[in-house]
Amino acid sequence: MPSAPEPIDLAALPKDFLWGVATSAYQIEGAVDEDGRSPSIWDTFSHTPGKIDGDDHGDVACDHYHRWPEDLGLMKELGAGAYRFSIAWPRVLPGGDGEVNQAGLDFYDRLVDALLAAGITPSATLYHWDLPQVLQDRGGWPNRDTAEHLAHYASVVAGRLGDRVPQWVTLNEPLCSAWIGHLEGRMAPGLASIEAAVPASFHLLLGHGLAAQAIRAAAPGASVGIVNNLSTVEPGGTSEAHVAAARRADGHTNRWWLDPVHGRGFPADMREVYGVDLPERPGDLATIAQPLDFLGLNYYFPAVVVDDPKGPLPYARAVRRPGVPRTGMDWEVDAGGIEALLMRLTEEYGARSIFVTENGSSFPDVVRSDGTVHDPERAGYLQDHLAACARAVRRGAPLHGYYAWSLMDNFEWAYGYDKRFGLVHVDYETQKRTVKTSGRRYAEIIRAHRDLALRAA
Ligand code: IFM
Repeated sequence: MPSAPEPIDLAALPKDFLWGVATSAYQIEGAVDEDGRSPSIWDTFSHTPGKIDGDDHGDVACDHYHRWPEDLGLMKELGAGAYRFSIAWPRVLPGGDGEVNQAGLDFYDRLVDALLAAGITPSATLYHWDLPQVLQDRGGWPNRDTAEHLAHYASVVAGRLGDRVPQWVTLNEPLCSAWIGHLEGRMAPGLASIEAAVPASFHLLLGHGLAAQAIRAAAPGASVGIVNNLSTVEPGGTSEAHVAAARRADGHTNRWWLDPVHGRGFPADMREVYGVDLPERPGDLATIAQPLDFLGLNYYFPAVVVDDPKGPLPYARAVRRPGVPRTGMDWEVDAGGIEALLMRLTEEYGARSIFVTENGSSFPDVVRSDGTVHDPERAGYLQDHLAACARAVRRGAPLHGYYAWSLMDNFEWAYGYDKRFGLVHVDYETQKRTVKTSGRRYAEIIRAHRDLALRAA
C-alpha cells in the first residue's frame, strides 16, 4: 500500500510561481511529412526495425500538429500558466541549415499567439533530440559544424518568435543525445562508440553556448537556459571501489554537463575515464560558459551504484534498493532526490534561478468502463515531488516554476507508446484525450496556490 502523499507547503512557493506542463515535438506532433518538414534522426531510427518497442514511430503520435487547439484547451482546463514545447528543427530548416521553411515556423507562430491569448506563457526548447537527418548524414553531433548549424537555427527561430517567447531552452538533456544516442546506442542516431560520444557531448555544449549567444542577439530580453536530466548518485556499499564508482557515475550523469556551462571546464577525472581527447579549440570553453538566466532541472529517479570494472562506461552498475517503490519504467521513486538536486544546484553551482523543466512518472493506465482514468500512483508522485520542491524553496533554492512531464501521453522514444507519462490520457486509435485523476489533482494544486497568492496580495 503506497503511503499517503505529503502535503505541499504551497506558501513556500513564490507568488508568481509558474505552473507548467511540458511536451516535445517528435513525441506529440506527428505530421512528419507535412508543410515541408524533412526527416529527423528519430524518423530514421524509429523506422529501423527492432529499435523501438512494438516498432512504434512518431508518424502520427498525438496528431498535435492538427489538434493543437484542443490540446491548448486541455492546458486551460488544467489551469496551466506555462507550456514548455520544443520546436522541430527539420520543420524550420529542412536542409539543416540554409533556407528557412516559413510554413514550419508558421505552425509555432500560431501556437505562441494562441498560448499568449490564453494567458499561458510559452517556453520554447530548440533541441529535443530531433536533428535533421541531413545533418546526421554530414557527421551529426561528432562534427563541429552541427554546433554552428544549431546557432543558425536558433537565430532564425528567436528572430521570428523572440518578441513573444520569454523563456528559451537551448538543449534538452544533452546527456541522452550524447551518451544514450552515441555510446549506448539505445536512442537516435544509435551509435555505440565513446570516440563518437565524447566529441558529440562537446559539440552539443558548444552548440548550447553559440545558440545562447544567437538567441540573445535576436531577442535581447530573452531568458536563456539549458535543461539537464540529473540524478542523485549514492554508492551501493561502503568500500572504496563503490565510492569511486559513485563518483564516476556522478561525473558521467551530472558533472560532465554542469561543470563546463558553469565555467569549470570538463571534469578531469572523467576525461581520464573516457580516454578520448576533446575537440577543443581556443575560446570554446568560454563560449560554452555563457551566462545562464536559469537552470532547467529534469528529475525522474535517483541512482545507487556499485563498482563494475568489466561493465560499460562509466564502470558503475545501478542496483535496486529493496522495498523502494518503482514506476512503470522500473525507475525508483524518491522525491528526496529532487530536493537534494535543487539544493546542489543552489549551493554547489550558485544557481540564481531554477525551473523544474520536467518531472513525472509512467504507470500502466487503464481506461475504466465509465471512461475515466484513475492514476493514484502518478498523482501521488506529483504531489510528493512538489512537496519536496517546496521544502527546497524553504531551504533557499531559487525555484521559480515546475513543468509536469507530460501534458499528455506520447511517444516515449525507444519504449514507443506503451509507457504513458501524461496527465491526460491519449487513446491512439481515436486520438481521444481524457484528463486523468493526476491531471485533476494538478489543477487543484495550481488553483490552491493561486488562491493563496491572491489572498496574500
Ligand atoms: O519523455 C522523456 C522526455 O522526452 C525527456 N525527458 C524524460 C522523459 C521521460 O522519459
